[in-house]
Amino acid sequence: MSQSEGKAKGGKSGKRAKESLLIKKLKQLWARGQSELCEVQGSRIHGRGVYATQAIPAGTKIIEYVGERIDKQESERRAWAQHDKAKKHGDAAVYIFTLDDKWDIDGDLPWNTARLINHSCEPNCEAWIEGRRIFIHSLRDIAAGEELTFDYAFDVECYEDHPCLCGRNSCVGYIVGRDQWPRLKEILADAKRG
Ligand SMILES: C[S@@+](CC[C@H](N)C(=O)[O-])C[C@H]1O[C@@H](n2cnc3c(N)ncnc32)[C@H](O)[C@@H]1O
Ligand SMILES: [Zn+2]
Repeated sequence: MSQSEGKAKGGKSGKRAKESLLIKKLKQLWARGQSELCEVQGSRIHGRGVYATQAIPAGTKIIEYVGERIDKQESERRAWAQHDKAKKHGDAAVYIFTLDDKWDIDGDLPWNTARLINHSCEPNCEAWIEGRRIFIHSLRDIAAGEELTFDYAFDVECYEDHPCLCGRNSCVGYIVGRDQWPRLKEILADAKRG
């Protein structure tokens, strides 16, 4: 074998090794966004949702909310871009999750199953931040086939943009964080009085 043939072969196998490493990394990344405890199905609340595939005890770490860690400036830019894109489809889906004062997670990735979890005024799950990662935990025992939900904790300021269709008896009518319900109820009572 000549030297040039040897180089050509080495080059090709090097490329193949890089490709298989990349595929391995992508598979690992994809796997981080999946869980055998839940799956995506059409939702009664909105569009697609995430449902328990088996009974899940309270306090279980169900799935990671995976995404790209971005700073607040980039987060603001992407949030508006996602908002504008969603509005074109008559929607309001934004996949930015607050991590801390400096960083957010952009979960707008097809393998991030948790991005499809809908909001409920009586949620059965909660998002927990662990270091730089976000996980969805069950707040109570969840039956197989139940839709997973958490409190999006949206600000009361823009409540009118986010009507809630969770269908729970305690539904306040809008996707607003529970801690801001007293203010929302005041606003709604004022509006009713005229
Ligand atoms: C991150 S997406 C959740 C997945 C969404 N169901 C889908 O199919 O893309 C968030 C969007 O889902 C909708 N959504 C989530 N929870 C809702 C609820 N309780 N009532 C009405 N719409 C809801 C809103 O349009 C919200 O902006
Ligand atoms: Zn509701």
